[in-house]
Amino acid sequence: MQTRSACEEFELNKIPLTRRDLGVLEGYHSPQLDVPVRLNTNESPFPLPDTFTQEFQSEIKNFDLNRYPNRSANELCTSIADKELLRGSEVFVANGSNEVIQSICLAFGGNDRSALIFEPTYAMHSQIAKITGTRVIEGSRNAEFQVDENAALDAIKKDRPEIVFLCSPNNPTGNIETPELIDGILTELNSTGGLLVIDEAYKEFSENASELIVSDESNVAFIRTFSKVWSLAGIRLGYLLAPEWCINMIKTVSLPYHLDSVKQRVGILALKHEDEMRRKVDEIKKERKKVFDALVSLPLKVWPSEANFLLFKPELIDAYKLWEELLEEGILIRDCSSWEGLGGCLRVTIGSKSENDTFLNAVRKILK
Ligand SMILES: Cc1ncc(COP(=O)(O)O)c(C=O)c1O
Repeated sequence: MQTRSACEEFELNKIPLTRRDLGVLEGYHSPQLDVPVRLNTNESPFPLPDTFTQEFQSEIKNFDLNRYPNRSANELCTSIADKELLRGSEVFVANGSNEVIQSICLAFGGNDRSALIFEPTYAMHSQIAKITGTRVIEGSRNAEFQVDENAALDAIKKDRPEIVFLCSPNNPTGNIETPELIDGILTELNSTGGLLVIDEAYKEFSENASELIVSDESNVAFIRTFSKVWSLAGIRLGYLLAPEWCINMIKTVSLPYHLDSVKQRVGILALKHEDEMRRKVDEIKKERKKVFDALVSLPLKVWPSEANFLLFKPELIDAYKLWEELLEEGILIRDCSSWEGLGGCLRVTIGSKSENDTFLNAVRKILK
């Protein structure tokens, strides 16, 4: 059956039209399929420690759910700040780091404003920028996915973007951004007045991530999430580390009581289990090496990664066909083959030891 366009629908039924520029998300979301091995959204394969669950269960009984939550999530911000050696006023928490990205774009982007984004990168940076009416300026990366520094500095001088997004380690390519690049961009932005936002969703998986920290004198902010290393993708909790002036501006666009009390408590309790989290990160890093070594021995191009996923490109078989055949084996990975700059590429999340073994055995069987 032929579907009607929004315009035709309006003419026929007089229903309101969405904004014309909102058609941009098509094809982005990963399918949510009920298969035995899900390695498509970079989640942690590990559940939270039992001690966390016990503490949470005993605390939930005392919740006053008839009351609104603490509006600025003070205790959670202080717990995060203590871990990061910052002040609570340098932390903003939200419903997943996607909401952090949205808040940044609402506060600093919008009509007549722009964001510089280096594709291929986390697709929601440009998606959310566009939804908030922020013009996207596309920077470029070379064949090994490194940002072209000179082109980036020229774009900042010429277009004076209000926001520059970097992602380190970068999703979906796995590489980190170099300190030289970050320094160069920051120096330029500190004179044009733009904000450098470094999305560090996967920072803990990297040994070489930037050591740059929040400073009142520097226009730089860092995005983090509980969805990956903290095993809490289901709770939707992310945060921003930034100078107090930046956090205060972001707070002006967030909805009152936007973060519920259960989520605030979950974050506070999770942070008490940092040692456990670090042990699991080490396990993932070992598994990442195992999966990398196994994939490079096959007819595939595999990129080194400092995150909990690997990007690879089949050399003898069509990427979509390999994706489909893996799905038939009950294994879901991410098909990036139609994304800009990623022709023929697939991305696999590093899962548990047995999930990784199942994935590798299936790839070997299909490529044989
Ligand atoms: C680089 C990057 N930033 C942010 C997010 C979103 O994370 P959250 O679950 O905190 O919204 C993701 C999710 O995959 C990501 O890859």
